[in-house]
Amino acid sequence: MTTTALPRSVLVVGSGGREHALVRALLASPAKPRVVCAPGNAGIAADVPCFAEAADDVARLVALTLREKIEFVVVGPEVPLALGLADKLLQAGIPVYGPKADGARLEASKIFTKQLLLKYSIPTAAAGVFGDAPAALEYLRSRPVPIVIKADGLAAGKGVIVAQTRDEAEAAVRAMLETGKFGASGRQILIEDCLHGEETSILVVVSGRDYVILPTSQDHKRIGDGDTGPNTGGMGTYSPADVVTPELLARIERDIVAPSVAAIGAEGIDFRGTLFIGVMLTAQGPQVLEFNTRFGDPETQVVLPRLATDLLSVLWAAAKGQLRGMTLGIKPDHAICVVMAAKGYPDAYAKGDVIRVPEKLPPGVTIYHAGTARNAEGEIVTNGGRVLGVTAFASTLQQAAANAYAACDAIECPSKYFRRDIGARQLSRG
Ligand code: AMP
Ligand code: GLY
Repeated sequence: MTTTALPRSVLVVGSGGREHALVRALLASPAKPRVVCAPGNAGIAADVPCFAEAADDVARLVALTLREKIEFVVVGPEVPLALGLADKLLQAGIPVYGPKADGARLEASKIFTKQLLLKYSIPTAAAGVFGDAPAALEYLRSRPVPIVIKADGLAAGKGVIVAQTRDEAEAAVRAMLETGKFGASGRQILIEDCLHGEETSILVVVSGRDYVILPTSQDHKRIGDGDTGPNTGGMGTYSPADVVTPELLARIERDIVAPSVAAIGAEGIDFRGTLFIGVMLTAQGPQVLEFNTRFGDPETQVVLPRLATDLLSVLWAAAKGQLRGMTLGIKPDHAICVVMAAKGYPDAYAKGDVIRVPEKLPPGVTIYHAGTARNAEGEIVTNGGRVLGVTAFASTLQQAAANAYAACDAIECPSKYFRRDIGARQLSRG
Protein backbone atom coordinates (compact mmCIF):
# COMPACT_ATOMS: atom_id res chain seq x y z
CA MET A 1 0.00 0.00 0.00
CA THR A 2 1.35 3.41 -0.90
CA THR A 3 0.00 6.35 1.00
CA THR A 4 0.50 9.97 0.08
CA ALA A 5 1.24 12.37 2.94
CA LEU A 6 -1.76 12.87 5.18
CA PRO A 7 -3.71 16.12 4.76
CA ARG A 8 -2.88 18.98 7.12
CA SER A 9 -6.42 20.33 7.25
CA VAL A 10 -9.82 18.66 7.23
CA LEU A 11 -13.35 20.06 6.91
CA VAL A 12 -16.15 17.96 8.38
CA VAL A 13 -19.55 18.78 6.85
CA GLY A 14 -22.63 18.39 9.06
CA SER A 15 -24.03 19.27 12.45
CA GLY A 16 -25.02 16.09 14.27
CA GLY A 17 -23.65 13.72 16.84
CA ARG A 18 -22.07 11.75 13.99
CA GLU A 19 -20.08 14.81 12.94
CA HIS A 20 -19.03 15.53 16.53
CA ALA A 21 -17.70 11.97 16.78
CA LEU A 22 -15.89 12.37 13.43
CA VAL A 23 -14.34 15.65 14.58
CA ARG A 24 -13.12 14.09 17.84
CA ALA A 25 -11.65 11.07 16.06
CA LEU A 26 -9.87 13.25 13.49
CA LEU A 27 -8.50 15.50 16.25
CA ALA A 28 -7.04 12.38 17.87
CA SER A 29 -5.00 11.58 14.75
CA PRO A 30 -1.24 11.46 15.36
CA ALA A 31 -0.94 13.58 12.20
CA LYS A 32 -2.52 16.45 14.19
CA PRO A 33 -4.51 17.97 11.31
CA ARG A 34 -6.29 21.29 11.58
CA VAL A 35 -9.95 20.24 11.86
CA VAL A 36 -12.85 22.59 11.09
CA CYS A 37 -16.58 22.01 10.67
CA ALA A 38 -19.55 23.48 8.80
CA PRO A 39 -22.01 24.24 10.19
CA GLY A 40 -21.39 22.25 13.40
CA ASN A 41 -23.22 22.74 16.71
CA ALA A 42 -22.44 24.11 20.18
CA GLY A 43 -20.41 21.07 21.21
CA ILE A 44 -18.40 20.91 17.99
CA ALA A 45 -17.74 24.66 18.23
CA ALA A 46 -16.19 24.09 21.66
CA ASP A 47 -13.66 21.74 20.02
CA VAL A 48 -12.88 23.26 16.61
CA PRO A 49 -13.63 26.36 14.51
CA CYS A 50 -17.09 26.17 12.91
CA PHE A 51 -18.27 28.01 9.81
CA ALA A 52 -21.88 29.00 9.12
CA GLU A 53 -22.14 27.35 5.67
CA ALA A 54 -25.15 25.02 5.63
CA ALA A 55 -24.53 21.32 5.03
CA ASP A 56 -26.63 21.38 1.84
CA ASP A 57 -25.16 24.56 0.34
CA VAL A 58 -22.80 22.96 -2.16
CA ALA A 59 -21.49 26.15 -3.79
CA ARG A 60 -20.70 27.83 -0.47
CA LEU A 61 -19.05 24.72 0.93
CA VAL A 62 -16.76 24.50 -2.08
CA ALA A 63 -15.93 28.21 -1.72
CA LEU A 64 -15.24 27.73 2.00
CA THR A 65 -12.93 24.82 1.27
CA LEU A 66 -10.89 26.88 -1.19
CA ARG A 67 -10.87 29.99 1.01
CA GLU A 68 -9.67 28.06 4.07
CA LYS A 69 -7.15 26.04 2.03
CA ILE A 70 -8.71 22.80 3.22
CA GLU A 71 -6.89 19.71 1.96
CA PHE A 72 -9.56 17.08 2.70
CA VAL A 73 -13.33 17.11 3.17
CA VAL A 74 -15.27 14.47 5.10
CA VAL A 75 -19.01 14.63 4.42
CA GLY A 76 -21.43 13.52 7.15
CA PRO A 77 -25.03 13.69 5.85
CA GLU A 78 -26.62 12.23 2.73
CA VAL A 79 -28.27 15.34 1.30
CA PRO A 80 -25.10 17.15 0.16
CA LEU A 81 -23.79 13.88 -1.30
CA ALA A 82 -26.99 13.44 -3.32
CA LEU A 83 -26.68 17.08 -4.43
CA GLY A 84 -23.21 16.38 -5.83
CA LEU A 85 -20.95 17.99 -3.21
CA ALA A 86 -18.25 15.37 -3.78
CA ASP A 87 -18.40 15.88 -7.56
CA LYS A 88 -17.95 19.63 -7.17
CA LEU A 89 -15.09 19.29 -4.67
CA LEU A 90 -13.28 16.83 -6.91
CA GLN A 91 -13.72 19.19 -9.87
CA ALA A 92 -12.04 21.84 -7.70
CA GLY A 93 -9.18 19.42 -6.99
CA ILE A 94 -10.08 18.68 -3.37
CA PRO A 95 -10.02 15.08 -2.13
CA VAL A 96 -13.25 14.07 -0.42
CA TYR A 97 -14.50 11.17 1.66
CA GLY A 98 -18.08 10.55 0.59
CA PRO A 99 -19.41 9.30 -2.76
CA LYS A 100 -20.23 11.36 -5.81
CA ALA A 101 -23.89 11.75 -6.77
CA ASP A 102 -23.87 8.49 -8.73
CA GLY A 103 -22.88 6.58 -5.58
CA ALA A 104 -25.16 8.63 -3.32
CA ARG A 105 -28.08 7.35 -5.43
CA LEU A 106 -27.74 4.09 -3.54
CA GLU A 107 -29.32 5.93 -0.62
CA ALA A 108 -31.26 8.58 -2.52
CA SER A 109 -33.22 5.99 -4.54
CA LYS A 110 -34.45 2.85 -2.85
CA ILE A 111 -35.68 1.61 -6.22
CA PHE A 112 -32.21 1.98 -7.77
CA THR A 113 -30.73 -0.05 -4.91
CA LYS A 114 -33.43 -2.72 -5.01
CA GLN A 115 -32.85 -3.19 -8.73
CA LEU A 116 -29.09 -3.47 -8.17
CA LEU A 117 -29.54 -6.02 -5.38
CA LEU A 118 -31.89 -8.12 -7.50
CA LYS A 119 -29.67 -7.87 -10.61
CA TYR A 120 -26.65 -9.20 -8.68
CA SER A 121 -28.63 -11.77 -6.62
CA ILE A 122 -27.74 -10.15 -3.30
CA PRO A 123 -30.19 -11.34 -0.59
CA THR A 124 -33.03 -8.84 -0.05
CA ALA A 125 -36.82 -8.89 0.31
CA ALA A 126 -39.00 -9.33 -2.79
CA ALA A 127 -40.54 -6.04 -3.89
CA GLY A 128 -42.63 -4.35 -6.54
CA VAL A 129 -42.11 -0.83 -7.94
CA PHE A 130 -45.12 1.43 -8.52
CA GLY A 131 -45.85 4.93 -9.74
CA ASP A 132 -49.64 4.78 -9.70
CA ALA A 133 -52.08 3.83 -6.99
CA PRO A 134 -54.39 1.33 -8.75
CA ALA A 135 -51.53 -1.00 -9.75
CA ALA A 136 -49.95 -0.65 -6.30
CA LEU A 137 -53.23 -1.46 -4.55
CA GLU A 138 -53.78 -4.49 -6.78
CA TYR A 139 -50.27 -5.79 -5.95
CA LEU A 140 -50.94 -5.21 -2.25
CA ARG A 141 -53.94 -7.51 -2.38
CA SER A 142 -51.70 -10.33 -3.62
CA ARG A 143 -49.20 -10.08 -0.74
CA PRO A 144 -49.42 -11.06 2.92
CA VAL A 145 -49.31 -8.51 5.76
CA PRO A 146 -47.33 -7.11 7.49
CA ILE A 147 -45.89 -5.41 4.42
CA VAL A 148 -43.51 -2.51 3.94
CA ILE A 149 -44.25 0.62 1.88
CA LYS A 150 -41.24 2.78 0.98
CA ALA A 151 -41.01 6.16 -0.70
CA ASP A 152 -38.26 5.96 -3.33
CA GLY A 153 -36.36 9.11 -2.40
CA LEU A 154 -34.78 10.74 0.64
CA ALA A 155 -37.33 11.39 3.38
CA ALA A 156 -35.18 11.97 6.48
CA GLY A 157 -35.90 8.46 7.73
CA LYS A 158 -39.67 8.92 7.54
CA GLY A 159 -40.39 7.37 4.16
CA VAL A 160 -40.73 3.76 5.36
CA ILE A 161 -43.99 2.38 6.74
CA VAL A 162 -44.11 -1.13 8.13
CA ALA A 163 -47.87 -1.72 7.79
CA GLN A 164 -49.37 -4.29 10.13
CA THR A 165 -52.75 -4.41 8.40
CA ARG A 166 -54.10 -4.09 4.86
CA ASP A 167 -55.90 -0.86 5.78
CA GLU A 168 -52.67 0.67 7.02
CA ALA A 169 -50.81 -0.47 3.91
CA GLU A 170 -53.52 0.93 1.62
CA ALA A 171 -53.50 4.25 3.48
CA ALA A 172 -49.71 4.49 3.12
CA VAL A 173 -49.90 3.79 -0.63
CA ARG A 174 -52.62 6.40 -1.09
CA ALA A 175 -50.75 8.96 1.03
CA MET A 176 -47.65 8.59 -1.12
CA LEU A 177 -49.13 8.14 -4.59
CA GLU A 178 -52.44 10.05 -4.39
CA THR A 179 -52.02 12.70 -1.70
CA GLY A 180 -48.38 13.42 -2.50
CA LYS A 181 -47.11 13.04 1.06
CA PHE A 182 -43.29 13.04 0.81
CA GLY A 183 -43.54 15.08 -2.43
CA ALA A 184 -41.18 13.98 -5.18
CA SER A 185 -39.55 11.41 -2.87
CA GLY A 186 -42.79 9.44 -2.81
CA ARG A 187 -43.83 9.76 -6.44
CA GLN A 188 -42.56 6.24 -6.93
CA ILE A 189 -42.76 3.61 -4.22
CA LEU A 190 -41.54 0.17 -3.35
CA ILE A 191 -43.86 -2.38 -1.82
CA GLU A 192 -41.62 -4.84 -0.08
CA ASP A 193 -42.21 -8.09 1.79
CA CYS A 194 -41.65 -7.79 5.51
CA LEU A 195 -38.50 -9.39 6.90
CA HIS A 196 -38.33 -10.64 10.48
CA GLY A 197 -35.35 -10.81 12.77
CA GLU A 198 -32.79 -8.59 14.44
CA GLU A 199 -31.27 -5.68 12.60
CA THR A 200 -27.61 -4.78 12.50
CA SER A 201 -25.72 -1.91 10.94
CA ILE A 202 -22.73 -2.93 8.86
CA LEU A 203 -20.57 0.08 8.03
CA VAL A 204 -18.04 -0.46 5.29
CA VAL A 205 -15.31 1.95 4.21
CA VAL A 206 -15.25 1.55 0.44
CA SER A 207 -12.72 2.71 -2.11
CA GLY A 208 -13.67 1.46 -5.56
CA ARG A 209 -13.29 -2.33 -5.47
CA ASP A 210 -11.57 -2.31 -2.05
CA TYR A 211 -13.18 -2.14 1.35
CA VAL A 212 -12.70 -2.61 5.10
CA ILE A 213 -15.55 -3.44 7.47
CA LEU A 214 -15.91 -1.25 10.58
CA PRO A 215 -16.92 -2.68 13.99
CA THR A 216 -20.48 -4.03 14.17
CA SER A 217 -23.28 -2.15 15.91
CA GLN A 218 -26.98 -2.21 16.55
CA ASP A 219 -29.32 0.79 16.49
CA HIS A 220 -32.68 1.30 18.26
CA LYS A 221 -34.91 3.03 15.72
CA ARG A 222 -38.21 3.33 17.57
CA ILE A 223 -38.87 6.20 19.97
CA GLY A 224 -40.14 4.09 22.87
CA ASP A 225 -38.77 1.44 25.20
CA GLY A 226 -39.30 -2.11 23.96
CA ASP A 227 -39.12 -0.88 20.32
CA THR A 228 -42.52 0.80 20.39
CA GLY A 229 -43.87 3.95 18.72
CA PRO A 230 -42.75 5.67 15.54
CA ASN A 231 -39.39 5.33 13.83
CA THR A 232 -36.72 7.96 14.53
CA GLY A 233 -33.25 8.67 13.18
CA GLY A 234 -31.97 6.33 15.90
CA MET A 235 -32.31 6.52 19.69
CA GLY A 236 -29.23 4.61 20.74
CA THR A 237 -26.56 2.16 19.67
CA TYR A 238 -23.99 -0.21 21.00
CA SER A 239 -20.90 -1.89 19.60
CA PRO A 240 -19.93 -4.67 19.22
CA ALA A 241 -23.27 -6.29 18.33
CA ASP A 242 -22.62 -9.75 19.72
CA VAL A 243 -25.52 -11.15 17.71
CA VAL A 244 -23.15 -10.83 14.75
CA THR A 245 -20.79 -13.65 15.65
CA PRO A 246 -17.50 -13.94 13.72
CA GLU A 247 -19.09 -16.74 11.65
CA LEU A 248 -22.13 -14.61 10.87
CA LEU A 249 -19.93 -11.63 9.97
CA ALA A 250 -17.98 -13.85 7.59
CA ARG A 251 -21.26 -14.89 5.96
CA ILE A 252 -22.43 -11.26 5.74
CA GLU A 253 -19.14 -10.37 4.10
CA ARG A 254 -19.34 -13.25 1.63
CA ASP A 255 -23.03 -12.97 0.73
CA ILE A 256 -23.61 -9.23 1.04
CA VAL A 257 -20.58 -6.94 1.47
CA ALA A 258 -18.23 -8.38 -1.15
CA PRO A 259 -20.93 -8.82 -3.85
CA SER A 260 -22.36 -5.35 -3.14
CA VAL A 261 -18.99 -3.62 -3.49
CA ALA A 262 -18.32 -5.63 -6.66
CA ALA A 263 -21.79 -4.80 -8.05
CA ILE A 264 -21.35 -1.08 -7.42
CA GLY A 265 -18.01 -1.20 -9.24
CA ALA A 266 -19.49 -3.25 -12.07
CA GLU A 267 -22.14 -0.55 -12.56
CA GLY A 268 -19.33 1.91 -13.21
CA ILE A 269 -19.57 3.72 -9.88
CA ASP A 270 -16.22 4.62 -8.27
CA PHE A 271 -17.56 4.73 -4.72
CA ARG A 272 -15.28 6.31 -2.11
CA GLY A 273 -17.03 6.66 1.19
CA THR A 274 -19.07 4.72 3.72
CA LEU A 275 -21.47 2.08 2.47
CA PHE A 276 -23.77 1.55 5.44
CA ILE A 277 -25.70 -1.67 4.93
CA GLY A 278 -28.82 -2.17 7.02
CA VAL A 279 -29.01 -5.94 7.47
CA MET A 280 -31.90 -8.02 8.80
CA LEU A 281 -30.75 -11.29 10.35
CA THR A 282 -33.61 -13.52 9.23
CA ALA A 283 -34.08 -17.23 9.81
CA GLN A 284 -33.14 -17.66 6.13
CA GLY A 285 -29.89 -15.74 6.63
CA PRO A 286 -28.83 -12.09 6.45
CA GLN A 287 -30.73 -9.88 3.98
CA VAL A 288 -30.26 -6.27 2.92
CA LEU A 289 -32.85 -3.78 4.20
CA GLU A 290 -31.25 -0.70 2.74
CA PHE A 291 -28.05 1.04 1.75
CA ASN A 292 -26.98 4.36 3.15
CA THR A 293 -24.00 6.12 1.63
CA ARG A 294 -22.62 7.77 4.77
CA PHE A 295 -21.78 7.02 8.36
CA GLY A 296 -24.75 6.14 10.57
CA ASP A 297 -25.99 8.40 13.34
CA PRO A 298 -25.75 7.26 16.16
CA GLU A 299 -23.71 4.24 14.94
CA THR A 300 -20.63 6.41 14.39
CA GLN A 301 -20.60 7.47 18.04
CA VAL A 302 -19.99 3.85 19.13
CA VAL A 303 -18.00 2.58 16.16
CA LEU A 304 -15.24 5.20 15.99
CA PRO A 305 -14.14 4.98 19.66
CA ARG A 306 -13.50 1.26 19.08
CA LEU A 307 -11.09 1.84 16.18
CA ALA A 308 -7.47 1.38 17.13
CA THR A 309 -6.34 2.55 13.67
CA ASP A 310 -6.05 6.27 12.92
CA LEU A 311 -9.35 7.34 11.31
CA LEU A 312 -7.70 10.04 9.23
CA SER A 313 -5.40 7.45 7.60
CA VAL A 314 -8.35 5.19 6.79
CA LEU A 315 -10.59 7.87 5.28
CA TRP A 316 -7.70 9.45 3.37
CA ALA A 317 -6.63 6.10 1.95
CA ALA A 318 -10.21 5.47 0.80
CA ALA A 319 -10.49 8.91 -0.79
CA LYS A 320 -7.15 8.52 -2.58
CA GLY A 321 -7.82 4.98 -3.85
CA GLN A 322 -5.14 3.51 -1.56
CA LEU A 323 -7.19 1.29 0.71
CA ARG A 324 -5.97 -2.05 -0.66
CA GLY A 325 -4.09 -4.06 1.97
CA MET A 326 -5.26 -1.95 4.88
CA THR A 327 -6.53 -3.79 7.96
CA LEU A 328 -8.24 -2.20 10.94
CA GLY A 329 -7.29 -2.55 14.58
CA ILE A 330 -10.38 -2.89 16.75
CA LYS A 331 -10.44 -2.46 20.53
CA PRO A 332 -12.20 -5.22 22.48
CA ASP A 333 -14.07 -2.75 24.73
CA HIS A 334 -17.80 -2.05 24.49
CA ALA A 335 -19.32 1.28 23.56
CA ILE A 336 -22.90 2.45 24.06
CA CYS A 337 -24.60 5.67 22.98
CA VAL A 338 -27.88 6.78 24.55
CA VAL A 339 -29.50 9.56 22.53
CA MET A 340 -31.00 12.31 24.62
CA ALA A 341 -33.82 13.79 22.58
CA ALA A 342 -36.21 16.69 23.10
CA LYS A 343 -39.57 15.52 24.47
CA GLY A 344 -42.02 15.26 21.55
CA TYR A 345 -39.44 14.09 18.97
CA PRO A 346 -39.91 12.68 16.28
CA ASP A 347 -42.99 14.96 16.13
CA ALA A 348 -43.01 18.60 17.26
CA TYR A 349 -40.71 19.54 20.13
CA ALA A 350 -39.56 22.68 21.91
CA LYS A 351 -36.20 24.37 21.28
CA GLY A 352 -34.19 26.65 23.53
CA ASP A 353 -34.30 24.69 26.80
CA VAL A 354 -31.11 25.09 28.84
CA ILE A 355 -28.96 21.96 29.19
CA ARG A 356 -26.60 21.58 32.16
CA VAL A 357 -23.95 18.89 31.91
CA PRO A 358 -22.16 18.21 35.22
CA GLU A 359 -18.42 18.94 35.33
CA LYS A 360 -17.64 15.46 36.51
CA LEU A 361 -18.98 12.55 34.48
CA PRO A 362 -18.65 8.81 35.14
CA PRO A 363 -15.47 7.22 33.73
CA GLY A 364 -15.31 6.62 29.99
CA VAL A 365 -18.25 8.93 29.23
CA THR A 366 -18.14 11.29 26.24
CA ILE A 367 -20.99 13.63 25.36
CA TYR A 368 -21.39 14.17 21.64
CA HIS A 369 -23.57 17.13 20.75
CA ALA A 370 -26.27 16.97 18.07
CA GLY A 371 -29.13 19.52 18.19
CA THR A 372 -27.51 22.09 20.48
CA ALA A 373 -26.82 25.83 20.24
CA ARG A 374 -25.86 28.69 22.55
CA ASN A 375 -28.43 31.26 23.67
CA ALA A 376 -27.78 34.98 24.12
CA GLU A 377 -26.45 34.29 27.63
CA GLY A 378 -23.95 31.79 26.27
CA GLU A 379 -25.74 28.78 27.78
CA ILE A 380 -26.05 25.51 25.86
CA VAL A 381 -29.67 24.99 24.77
CA THR A 382 -31.67 22.41 22.86
CA ASN A 383 -31.86 23.15 19.13
CA GLY A 384 -33.03 19.93 17.49
CA GLY A 385 -34.87 16.65 17.99
CA ARG A 386 -31.87 14.56 18.91
CA VAL A 387 -29.88 16.70 21.33
CA LEU A 388 -26.97 14.76 22.83
CA GLY A 389 -25.33 11.38 22.31
CA VAL A 390 -24.32 10.22 25.77
CA THR A 391 -21.61 7.69 25.00
CA ALA A 392 -19.73 5.40 27.34
CA PHE A 393 -16.80 3.09 26.79
CA ALA A 394 -15.96 0.23 29.18
CA SER A 395 -14.70 -3.33 29.22
CA THR A 396 -18.26 -4.70 29.43
CA LEU A 397 -21.52 -3.49 27.89
CA GLN A 398 -23.13 -3.66 31.33
CA GLN A 399 -20.58 -1.22 32.79
CA ALA A 400 -20.78 1.04 29.75
CA ALA A 401 -24.59 1.14 30.02
CA ALA A 402 -24.49 1.87 33.76
CA ASN A 403 -22.08 4.77 33.21
CA ALA A 404 -24.01 6.19 30.23
CA TYR A 405 -27.30 6.09 32.16
CA ALA A 406 -25.71 7.65 35.25
CA ALA A 407 -24.62 10.52 32.99
CA CYS A 408 -28.09 10.78 31.38
CA ASP A 409 -29.67 11.06 34.83
CA ALA A 410 -27.16 13.70 35.92
CA ILE A 411 -27.68 15.95 32.89
CA GLU A 412 -30.25 18.64 33.62
CA CYS A 413 -32.69 19.68 30.90
CA PRO A 414 -36.45 20.24 31.35
CA SER A 415 -37.36 18.56 28.06
CA LYS A 416 -34.94 15.62 28.09
CA TYR A 417 -36.24 12.27 26.88
CA PHE A 418 -34.27 9.09 26.35
CA ARG A 419 -34.94 5.39 26.09
CA ARG A 420 -34.12 3.35 29.17
CA ASP A 421 -33.38 0.11 27.35
CA ILE A 422 -30.49 0.79 24.98
CA GLY A 423 -28.43 -2.40 24.86
CA ALA A 424 -31.03 -4.33 26.88
CA ARG A 425 -31.47 -7.02 24.26
CA GLN A 426 -27.78 -7.90 24.30
CA LEU A 427 -27.57 -7.57 28.08
CA SER A 428 -30.50 -9.94 28.58
CA ARG A 429 -28.81 -12.49 26.35
CA GLY A 430 -26.19 -12.48 29.10
P1 AMP B 1 -34.88 1.57 5.65
O1 AMP B 1 -34.76 3.07 5.62
O2 AMP B 1 -35.17 0.94 4.34
O3 AMP B 1 -33.81 0.86 6.45
O4 AMP B 1 -36.11 1.33 6.60
C1 AMP B 1 -36.17 1.86 7.90
C2 AMP B 1 -36.54 0.78 8.86
O5 AMP B 1 -37.75 0.15 8.46
C3 AMP B 1 -35.52 -0.36 8.92
O6 AMP B 1 -34.46 -0.06 9.78
C4 AMP B 1 -36.38 -1.49 9.42
O7 AMP B 1 -36.58 -1.40 10.81
C5 AMP B 1 -37.70 -1.23 8.73
N1 AMP B 1 -37.76 -2.00 7.48
C6 AMP B 1 -37.36 -1.60 6.25
N2 AMP B 1 -37.56 -2.56 5.32
C7 AMP B 1 -38.10 -3.60 5.98
C8 AMP B 1 -38.52 -4.92 5.59
N3 AMP B 1 -38.46 -5.32 4.32
N4 AMP B 1 -38.99 -5.72 6.55
C9 AMP B 1 -39.09 -5.32 7.83
N5 AMP B 1 -38.72 -4.10 8.26
C10 AMP B 1 -38.22 -3.24 7.36
N1 GLY C 1 -29.02 5.31 12.56
C1 GLY C 1 -29.51 5.08 11.27
C2 GLY C 1 -29.04 6.01 10.25
O1 GLY C 1 -28.07 6.72 10.41
O2 GLY C 1 -29.65 6.05 9.18
